[in-house]
Amino acid sequence: MENTIKFINQQTDNFKPEIGIVLGSGLGELADEFCIYGINYSDIPNFARSTVHGHKGKLIFAEINNKKVVMMQGRIHYYEGHPLNIVTYSIKVLKNLGIKTLILTNAAGAVNPNFKPADLMLIKDHINFMGANPLVGPNDENYGVRFPDMSDIYKKELRKLVKECAKNLNIDLQEGVYLATSGPSYETPAEIKMFGLMGADAVGMSTVPEAIVANYCGLNTIGISCITNHAAGVSETSLSHQEVIESANLAKSKFKGLIKEIIKNL
Ligand code: HPA
Repeated sequence: MENTIKFINQQTDNFKPEIGIVLGSGLGELADEFCIYGINYSDIPNFARSTVHGHKGKLIFAEINNKKVVMMQGRIHYYEGHPLNIVTYSIKVLKNLGIKTLILTNAAGAVNPNFKPADLMLIKDHINFMGANPLVGPNDENYGVRFPDMSDIYKKELRKLVKECAKNLNIDLQEGVYLATSGPSYETPAEIKMFGLMGADAVGMSTVPEAIVANYCGLNTIGISCITNHAAGVSETSLSHQEVIESANLAKSKFKGLIKEIIKNL
């Protein structure tokens, strides 16, 4: 970790961000618009690389609405073959860079039949259905306790703030429970039916490990899903990554507006 932080500080002239944002599939554009410093993940010591189309793999430092922000343009996923402690290493890096608030974003399929592609959903809570936990292994007490509480990850005050931001911009914001699977296969209709019965509103392959680590190490966490498709069986059509990227594109300007408004009001 020491090497990672030293390298980043050298590259950014000791830029001290207060907000971190993880930009999900097809949502990376915000970072290009405001970039002051950009570092490829592949150049950062101990950082894993993202191999997914739609994920650039760059750490971007920017100033947005007078706030210093660090953005991950693309993330590492469990299905790429990395264990979850590697997937979430970046969250500890952001913590060590000094952020207080983390905004996690993703593309997700709608389990809730009332949601439609290009909707935005504020994450109220999550279900870890990945079959793994990023905190497995020896615990470093410098970050958090062995058995961290997860009863209030996406805090009510912060959700209230996000809802007010959406209202200011006339954006219809859904709210619901995000369920994470390991992927990379999309779900079957039977699985989606089960996830609905379990209380999930949206399904995806990321975010949950990052939220667990963020909460564990005391970061205020906000989660926003961009609904890109009806999940399997909710509509008749089959799923593709292309559809996910195209729908994320449709929601892009709304999404960027909301993130900027949240930054302004944090
Ligand atoms: N399932 C899982 N992950 C996803 C989906 C989906 O339907 N859409 C976008 N990411």
